[in-house]
Amino acid sequence: MEQLQQFMERIWEQGTLHSAVISQVRTAPMEGCTKAVLKPVQLRGDRMLQITYHVGNKVVHENMESDQAVQKWMALMEHHFRQALIRTTEAEHQVMISKKHKVAIKTKAKKSPAADLSHNRKKQYILEEGKPAAFLVELGIMNAAGKVVAQKFDKFKQINRFLEMVADVLPYLPKDRPISIIDFGCGKSYLTFALYHYLHVLLQRDVMIYGLDLKEDVIEHCESLARRLQYDGLQFAVGDIADYDRTSPVDMVVTLHACDTATDAALNKAVRWGAEVILSVPCCQHELFSQVNNDMLAPLLKHGILKERFSALATDALRANLLDCVGYQTQLLEFIDMEHTPKNLLIRAVKSKLKSEAASWEQYLAFREGLQLDPYLERALQDILETRGFTR
Ligand SMILES: C[S@@+](CC[C@H](N)C(=O)[O-])C[C@H]1O[C@@H](n2cnc3c(N)ncnc32)[C@H](O)[C@@H]1O
Repeated sequence: MEQLQQFMERIWEQGTLHSAVISQVRTAPMEGCTKAVLKPVQLRGDRMLQITYHVGNKVVHENMESDQAVQKWMALMEHHFRQALIRTTEAEHQVMISKKHKVAIKTKAKKSPAADLSHNRKKQYILEEGKPAAFLVELGIMNAAGKVVAQKFDKFKQINRFLEMVADVLPYLPKDRPISIIDFGCGKSYLTFALYHYLHVLLQRDVMIYGLDLKEDVIEHCESLARRLQYDGLQFAVGDIADYDRTSPVDMVVTLHACDTATDAALNKAVRWGAEVILSVPCCQHELFSQVNNDMLAPLLKHGILKERFSALATDALRANLLDCVGYQTQLLEFIDMEHTPKNLLIRAVKSKLKSEAASWEQYLAFREGLQLDPYLERALQDILETRGFTR
C-alpha cells in the first residue's frame, strides 16, 4: 500500500491526473455507494480533488483541498474499493488490490488529455429542484410542483450543503441498528427535517432523530409538522441542552447555530455520550471576548470588530483542539459561502483511533495560556481530560 501511496502522490503532485474511476466495493464509503470518480478541479483559484460518489441513481460530490487529496484517495483505496482505473496525461494505470491488500498496477501507454479543471456549473444537489419533497413544500421552500421559491434559494442551498456534509459522515454511523441523532437548539428545524428526509426517506435508514429547543411554541409547531408528515422517527422536546440527558446510545450530535456556550454544552454532552459524529455550526461566540488578553496582539484587540472576530475564531480553534484531546479527529469546514452568512464554520468531529491527543493538549494549553482564556468547554470536560492525564 505504501508503494501505491507514493504512486498516487507522484501523479497528484505532477498534476498529470485526468480522472480516476474507483470501483469494486470492499466496504461502501456511504450506504449504497458502488463507485467513485475522482478528477482535479479548480475552485476559488485552488486545485482540488473532486470526488463523485455514485449512490444508487444519485451522485454526491466532495471536494478535497490539495494537501488532503492523496490521503483521502488513499483512504478510499485502502478501506472501501479494490480497483481503480487511473487516467493520466502520461499513461493509463489499472490498480488492483487483493483482499489482503496486495497491490498490482498494470500500465498501458494510453495518454489522456489534460483534465478540464472547470467545476460543474450546474450544481448537483442531494435534494433536487423539480422533485417535490413534502417537508420542503410544508416549510415553504418549494411549491407543490417542486420549484424552489426564489427568496428561499439560499435556504435550499444551505440545506443541500448540510446534507452533503451528512453524506460524508455516513460511514461513521451504525449500520446494524437504528441510528440515533440529537439536534440541539433545533429551532424551526429546517435542517432537522432535511436530515430525517435524507436518512430515512431517501436512504431508507432506520433512524431516530430528537430535536431539542428552549422555545415551546417552536417545538409545538415542529412536533405537529412531524406528525403531519408521518415522520415517525422524528420527535421534538422542549428543554435546555445543559439539563438534557439520555441513557440510550447517541450516534451523532448536531448543533447548528446554537448561541454562544449552548454550543459548548452540546459538545460536552456529545463527548460524554461517546457520539461517533459531531456536526456543529457555532454562532455568537461571546464567551472569550471579555477574557482575551495578549500584549503582542494589542493592535488587533484594541479594535472591537477585530477583537470580536478573533475571539470567535479562537473559541472554535480551542473547541476543535479540545475535541481532538478527547479522542476525536476534528476538521473545520466552510458550511456555506461567506456571502450568505458570516456564521459559516462547521466543526466536524468523528471518533478516531489516532493517538494525537497529547500533542493537541500541548497546543491547546499554549494557545489558551497565551491568550489568558478560561473556556467553558475545558471546564465542562475537566474530569474526562484529567482521566487522560491532561491537567491545567
Ligand atoms: C439561531 S437558532 C438555530 C436554529 C436551527 N438549529 C438552525 O440552524 O436553523 C438557535 C436556537 O438555539 C436555541 N437554543 C439556544 N440556547 C439553547 C439551550 N441552552 N438549550 C436549547 N436550545 C437552545 C434557541 O432557542 C434557538 O431556537
